[in-house]
Amino acid sequence: MLTIPFYKPSIGEDEIAEVVDTLRKGWLTTGPKTKQFEREFSQYLKHTHSVAVNSATAALHLSLEAIGLKAGDAVLVPTMTFTATAEVVRYFNAHPILVDCRPEDFNLDVADAERKLQAAKKRGENVVAIMPVHYGGQIGDAAGVTELARKHNLIIIEDAAHCCPAFYRDNEASPWQTVGTSGHISCYSFYANKTITTGEGGMACTEREDFADRMRIMSLHGISRDAWKRFTAEGSWYYEVIAPGFKYNLTDIAASLGIHQLRRADELHQKRTRLAELYNELLKDVAELVLPRVQPNRIHSWHLYVIRLKLDKLTTNRADFIVKLKEAGIGTSVHWMPLHMHPYYREKFGYQPADLPCAASIYPEIISLPLWPDLSESDVRHICG
Ligand SMILES: Cc1ncc(COP(=O)(O)O)c(C=O)c1O
Repeated sequence: MLTIPFYKPSIGEDEIAEVVDTLRKGWLTTGPKTKQFEREFSQYLKHTHSVAVNSATAALHLSLEAIGLKAGDAVLVPTMTFTATAEVVRYFNAHPILVDCRPEDFNLDVADAERKLQAAKKRGENVVAIMPVHYGGQIGDAAGVTELARKHNLIIIEDAAHCCPAFYRDNEASPWQTVGTSGHISCYSFYANKTITTGEGGMACTEREDFADRMRIMSLHGISRDAWKRFTAEGSWYYEVIAPGFKYNLTDIAASLGIHQLRRADELHQKRTRLAELYNELLKDVAELVLPRVQPNRIHSWHLYVIRLKLDKLTTNRADFIVKLKEAGIGTSVHWMPLHMHPYYREKFGYQPADLPCAASIYPEIISLPLWPDLSESDVRHICG
């Protein structure tokens, strides 16, 4: 039995009451509460358009569809990510070109992206987009990604699954920017263990109306705008299908959770930040560990708290370390085995671990410790002990 699980969502009475209200009103699928959640999400993260969907994976898929990704095109994707980021590229029979990470924050290494892009161009590939992932909730080299994209005419689709909210600035003299500022489309996750949750859910956000319109239409079978209204007094029975779309809409039941989670997003963020700082304080003198570091000019969402084991200073390995923590009732996770080390990517694209050496060397050392808003300080002390 785990006495301290890896994650537990923080669901308040307001979330519960809103779900009950939705159930009593009887409009269960996409409707007024989803629209409210979209509006308030746009305000919170300063986006112009937000399209609510049933996962970040759906949001990433719709993004690539909206930019017109075609079979045979290529997209730069970090190897240090969850499989969703690359699998959506494969949905189009396009090529996810995997890029190494940098050691300080495990985010995409822009210099490696440039090398991979040049090599792809030599092979005659058409590289159309880059999908930076903000590892664990810390924004990576936004300026570098923006410059690379400008130079090579790439669309930036941010995988901001961990980042509601996160912030960055180019230097100390420049203003703070909200996550999503440097992407053409930014995708958020509301999966059960994310910074705010709707159980399952996601949001695709953009400043471009053409992208937003296309994603909205394709999120609901490719049928004409605001199809959900056709069952309301203001709607009509008539609709047209303009493309073979998907069934990716968010339900009002899920949006009921989202509306209140969003109102609590700053409070939840502060709690996670305080706990991360406590971990840092309690573990700072453990010579066998490398702790996560907030990079200059970044405000971390602290979705994940990932330590690295200095294996050369230890007589144990990561797997045994995790077992020992489990025996002590402490849940952990690993984010992630790099994509290029998974059988599918190895076999399909012929990757060897050493092809992306930084990610491959970090992988055996990382463990994600419990970090969730209602985790108590005494739990953190116990874990550190
Ligand atoms: C970086 C990253 N991208 C995408 C996803 C997919 O999110 P969802 O489960 O909402 O589809 C996840 C989920 O864990 C993730 O960690």
